[in-house]
Amino acid sequence: MKSPSPKTFQRKLGAWYSKNSRKGLPWRKTKDPYRIWVSEAMLQQTQVAKVIPYYERFIEKFPTVETLADAPPAEVFDAWAGLGYYYRAKNLQAAAKTIRDRHGSRVPDQVEKLMELPGIGRYTAGAIASIAYDHPAPILDGNVIRVFCRYFGIEEDPKKPEVQKRLWKIAGDFVPEVSPGDFNQALMELGALVCTPRRPQCGSCPLSGACAARKAGKQSDIPLRAAAASRKRILYVCGILEDNGRILLGRRPLNGLLPGLWEFPGGEKSPGETAKTSLTRHLWERLGLNASPQRRISAVRQVLSHRQLEISAFACRWSGKGNSNGYIESRWIAAPELIHAPLTAGMLKLAKQLYG
Ligand code: ADE
Repeated sequence: MKSPSPKTFQRKLGAWYSKNSRKGLPWRKTKDPYRIWVSEAMLQQTQVAKVIPYYERFIEKFPTVETLADAPPAEVFDAWAGLGYYYRAKNLQAAAKTIRDRHGSRVPDQVEKLMELPGIGRYTAGAIASIAYDHPAPILDGNVIRVFCRYFGIEEDPKKPEVQKRLWKIAGDFVPEVSPGDFNQALMELGALVCTPRRPQCGSCPLSGACAARKAGKQSDIPLRAAAASRKRILYVCGILEDNGRILLGRRPLNGLLPGLWEFPGGEKSPGETAKTSLTRHLWERLGLNASPQRRISAVRQVLSHRQLEISAFACRWSGKGNSNGYIESRWIAAPELIHAPLTAGMLKLAKQLYG
């Protein structure tokens, strides 16, 4: 089957997008490269509906590159709390500082310059250059990969470097000179709304007439899904320490996993330890408390980007004055307030089980 020219593809996709794009997305009402960048950083691993309120709060708090660059890191993490993938917040602020110091606070418009900034890869650079600056820069994310693989009938694993290369080449050949940002967003939109991973709605697709996967009935097999990489399992033990109806929380360090979020205090169980001895050790090392775990009262699982976290919570007897050596700070919080605290996702599940 002969594929239509990029022009036909662009025209059909463009007509579909102007009728069917999601309306009211706040980052589509601006050309401010800083705002586009923040939205793309948030959208990379997170669904649109979840991002909207975070984006609006973040922009209100940090409306410019300078306000973000100058902010205390803990405030940036606070604004990100609950979005997950916290290295994104850290990179965003590091890049804002570089833009302030080396680019006169102007977000660069060239893909190469953008890619020199922390956390900005080829996708984000292309998104900023095309959406904010109208440069015909291609983008490739999971949605776009799916659309192109199906359309061109690419049956190999899209993670392979040679397939990636081919896909970037296609994306570069297809992105138009006029309104490249709309074209790129239309591709992502089609992938999110129509050309979905499961049960794509080929009947509503503007490109279905020339789609190789549809012609061959292979929409479910393309793109090829490589076996999911196995996540490292982490066993985390934490203590529920009570004092007159209040429960102790610790705020995690800013330089590590889940930075700046709060948790029931504890730590990772090492291989030679039992859960209880491990917890006693962590509460001594991180808080200077003598704790004796009594019984396991709850357990949850939480999937992180590269890890599978299993948290066990123990009711603890405890004594001592304590410190916050292993936390940024620690606080006693009234039990009913816990479910509203900026806890890590796993700890929030625990809090809901115990106090929700
Ligand atoms: N996913 C990431 N960025 C997006 C955008 N600008 N529009 C639609 N989906 C997206």
